[in-house]
Amino acid sequence: MASPREERYTYEDCKRTADMLLSKTKHRPRVAIICGSGLGGLADLLMDQVVFEYSKIPNFPKSTVLGHAGKLIFGNLSGTPTVVMQGRFHMYEGYPLWKVTFPVRIFHLIGVETLIVTNAAGGLNPDYKVGDIMVIRDHINMPGFAGQNPLMGPNEERFGVRFPAMSDAYNKELRKMALSVGAEIGCADILREGVYCALGGPNYETIAECSFLQRLGVDAVGMSTVPEVIVARHCGMRVFGFSLITNKSVLDYESKEKASHAEVLEASHHSARTLEKLVSLMVQRIERNNNLA
Ligand code: HPA
Repeated sequence: MASPREERYTYEDCKRTADMLLSKTKHRPRVAIICGSGLGGLADLLMDQVVFEYSKIPNFPKSTVLGHAGKLIFGNLSGTPTVVMQGRFHMYEGYPLWKVTFPVRIFHLIGVETLIVTNAAGGLNPDYKVGDIMVIRDHINMPGFAGQNPLMGPNEERFGVRFPAMSDAYNKELRKMALSVGAEIGCADILREGVYCALGGPNYETIAECSFLQRLGVDAVGMSTVPEVIVARHCGMRVFGFSLITNKSVLDYESKEKASHAEVLEASHHSARTLEKLVSLMVQRIERNNNLA
């Protein structure tokens, strides 16, 4: 176990959790999916499921947020071995970022090569509508500006280098693939590509904050995803992400609109099926391309 003084999991702690999971399932996933608020329905598409409650996995934090079920599910998604996190961890739950991102290192150790992240986000881009799906082209790590990064502390070289590049965080081929799959299934009109900005939360943004973020070039804002992406890139995984636009950010002092979690869950419910279809087709295609490679 990590000593309280070091306050982080060691490589061996991660290895023990990974080995425990591998000993209890025959699935050997190369793709992992982290489901955002209200998007856990993806897990229902998995065949031959092996389900682990987070509370039964050594060192796993607990999900404390409504809309995040707290289960790690192994199974076959469109015939491809996949592991799905039904519910993620957030900084605003009080977890340090090294804990929020622990599952990503477990994915790496069990052999996952591609991480797909999904989240619910507020739309800052004036062209975005509720229900749009944004392919994440890039991110802004706002907590990172304030000294909150999951890679802070001693670097574990067995996971990755001290100073990882982040200029290619979101895989270009997978972004292209998402846009073409979207066109094939007839949802090109709601598909966008843009910049996601993570804030610490848990409060939604003030009008001044939204206007500031918009001027920075942010298209969608949320409270998750970026820490997991940083840790996945650190250990060399390919990353791809979708944001489901669940509400429009409020930018006008005369507006009566107010963001709420209930609104976010309701909106995610509406477009969730399209997002699930997109993700499962992408997983199928990723595996097919891997087999061709
Ligand atoms: N802001 C931050 N996080 C969010 C939002 C938002 O408007 N919508 C969904 N998650």
